[in-house]
Amino acid sequence: MERLNCDNDDAVHSMLTKLSTLWKNRAAVNQELPDYWNLAFDPDKQDFTASLLPFRNHQAWQEAPEALQSKCLSYAWGIYNLKTIYIECNVVVPACEDIIKTPPPSHNRMLLQDVMSQALLDEALHTRMSIMACNYIYAMRKLAPLDFTAFNLVTWREGLLANCNAEWERRLTRFAIACASETLITDYLKTMAEDTSIQAICHEVTRTHAMDEWSHSSVFSFVATDIVHGLSRKEREYLRSIILKTVQMFANNELGAWGTVFSMLDFPNAREILNDVGDSNEISVYTDSVESLINRIGLTGKGLGSSQSAIAALHEEAYA
Ligand SMILES: [Fe+2]
Ligand SMILES: [Fe+2]
Repeated sequence: MERLNCDNDDAVHSMLTKLSTLWKNRAAVNQELPDYWNLAFDPDKQDFTASLLPFRNHQAWQEAPEALQSKCLSYAWGIYNLKTIYIECNVVVPACEDIIKTPPPSHNRMLLQDVMSQALLDEALHTRMSIMACNYIYAMRKLAPLDFTAFNLVTWREGLLANCNAEWERRLTRFAIACASETLITDYLKTMAEDTSIQAICHEVTRTHAMDEWSHSSVFSFVATDIVHGLSRKEREYLRSIILKTVQMFANNELGAWGTVFSMLDFPNAREILNDVGDSNEISVYTDSVESLINRIGLTGKGLGSSQSAIAALHEEAYA
């Protein structure tokens, strides 16, 4: 495939080189990690930020005994991290592997492989941090670990891939969902990373992860910019549509996981809470990020429509 714009290749080359150098100094995987297990465990502190619970305003939740609410917050930490692990392993890693194993046609081929292999290492560390921090909380609270696999973002992705008709669609689908996730995960981690009132380990692990994800969002944006230049109009349209659809799945309330937790805890009026709350969460936390992403990587204008119209359509769909 013919490369379209050499000037842009140079700009992408210089940014990817900078990001690759920064990684050596900044990434958590290259630092001596603090010994989280020496952080004092405070049984009176919450393990999760209550304002992030999808049912925080539901009467049945508000009237539940405090001890039960506290157990739910520990499981919220479990769900949050398990979803993070699934995003890392099932969404981001396959897209890194695609680019490492079979890089797209580009003057920046080696750099793309270089930054993607760095991201792959980071995600392995994040997976380890998440699972250890979950197990720490389960152990301290004497709770049975949550087993859950059917996160909506992951099952939706698998369904899309199964329905793709061509290899280019499968590859762009994997990349689009990973690229959107790498931008949206910063918003997903933000509240917990900034909440110093919660259990120290929960705050610290999320904060360390969030710092790495700031860089990943740039890495994926520049890799995406490079890839977009080599795409046809039809391929660009496809990439854009999957990136936009990812927002809704990313914001999903994951009530399947909550249903499992509620039955483990025998939570009163669980059915009523799940029915009343519904699966779709507020997408506005994520729309600014996705709007600037599609602008930044060249998926607006030239017949593709503006980013504002894309976000308006997203809102319409979410509240239809
Ligand atoms: Fe990560
Ligand atoms: Fe990441």
